[in-house]
Amino acid sequence: MATQWAELYSNRIQRMQSSAIREILKITQRPDIISFAGGLPAPELFPTQEIIDASQRALEQHGIMALQYGLTEGFTPLREMIVEHMQRTGVNCGINNILITSGSQQALDLIGKIFIDPGDKVIVEQPTYLGALQAWDVYDAEYITVPTDDDGMLIDGLEKVLQSHQAKFIYAMPTFQNPMGISTSSSRRREIVRLAGHYNTPIVEDDPYGQLRYEGEAELPLIGIDAQMRNENKEQIVSGNVIYLSTFSKTLCPGFRVAWVTAPEDVIFRMVQAKQGSDLHTSTFSQVVAYETARDGFVEKHVKEIRRVYHERRDLMLGLLEELFPPGVTWTHPKGGLFLWIRLPEGMNSTELLEKAVEQKVAFVPGSPFYPCGGGENTMRINFSNATPEQIEEGVKRLAAVIKEAMQSR
Ligand SMILES: Cc1ncc(COP(=O)(O)O)c(C=O)c1O
Repeated sequence: MATQWAELYSNRIQRMQSSAIREILKITQRPDIISFAGGLPAPELFPTQEIIDASQRALEQHGIMALQYGLTEGFTPLREMIVEHMQRTGVNCGINNILITSGSQQALDLIGKIFIDPGDKVIVEQPTYLGALQAWDVYDAEYITVPTDDDGMLIDGLEKVLQSHQAKFIYAMPTFQNPMGISTSSSRRREIVRLAGHYNTPIVEDDPYGQLRYEGEAELPLIGIDAQMRNENKEQIVSGNVIYLSTFSKTLCPGFRVAWVTAPEDVIFRMVQAKQGSDLHTSTFSQVVAYETARDGFVEKHVKEIRRVYHERRDLMLGLLEELFPPGVTWTHPKGGLFLWIRLPEGMNSTELLEKAVEQKVAFVPGSPFYPCGGGENTMRINFSNATPEQIEEGVKRLAAVIKEAMQSR
């Protein structure tokens, strides 16, 4: 008798759904569609020649070690390089505070695995990163949302939530948030860290885009502010209140699947145990090649070029939105990152609009899936890093026409 697989699946996977939107977005992979939907870097910026050279060095200089099983914690020279990077951003950590993960996406999963029991509360920004919700739904997390404006989480909203719920942690993306592209001011950052400490609730800070800034001064990440405040109080930095995630996906290439966590040693120890059950360790070869590519300051040089190109694309897109989008539609003005966030007039539905947009061969991500407690039907996320300038011009024209038509026929 054929196995009835559907009867065997665990309760845990009942919340795992592939949404209708994902099905529509599959169509957007067709080459004739201009897609602003993904969060993909521009492929022409991948440092392909440097990676070819680095792969050769990985094999010649690191030999079979690059092909062998490795430490779960990660390739030691890569972790040392990350310690230096963290120190440059104001975080005084050591190698035992660093774990290499297979993308930040895996770090989100490991965090779910070690912290979330069914029904545990997680405080998230509204809207928040869909991939985090996907990672934590299977652990049966309950989400408490904090409203945001174009400057990040509303501090009153956060305090209210912290007063009324004992959550496991606050999930925050203070720098060029996905999906809105917004960044939190330094005064609000300090307030978030202060409140988290006051209400004894740790922070998971997800920072894949921090290096992709196109204007303004760099802000300290929350983990750096936490360290600073502890220093003022003469406390140990590494016993801090923040778990920090970052990745090479947007500064080198996502195909490496190499990212890292910076956290107190005890948390790293537990994440290592959880990771052993997932994949033993992140691909040794990928880590060694990422290290050989990134070393000697290459990332810092390379991100200058990424910033230049994305800055131009962001400006182009913002200019076209201003010129072509009808009155009543508003959007964020991100100072970095890959996305901007569009708000259609109340009552409009961006999921319905996506179908019409795909008919006109342009795509975006509707906003509602980024709202775990419902809402956001009139919002959408637009990526500006992946399409070429010509595609951006044509795609925004098509999108503006679709939106105008939908507004007229209301
Ligand atoms: C906020 C956020 N976190 C995590 C990730 C996953 O990154 P990685 O490619 O390192 O898994 C992304 C990717 O887009 C992201 O936007």
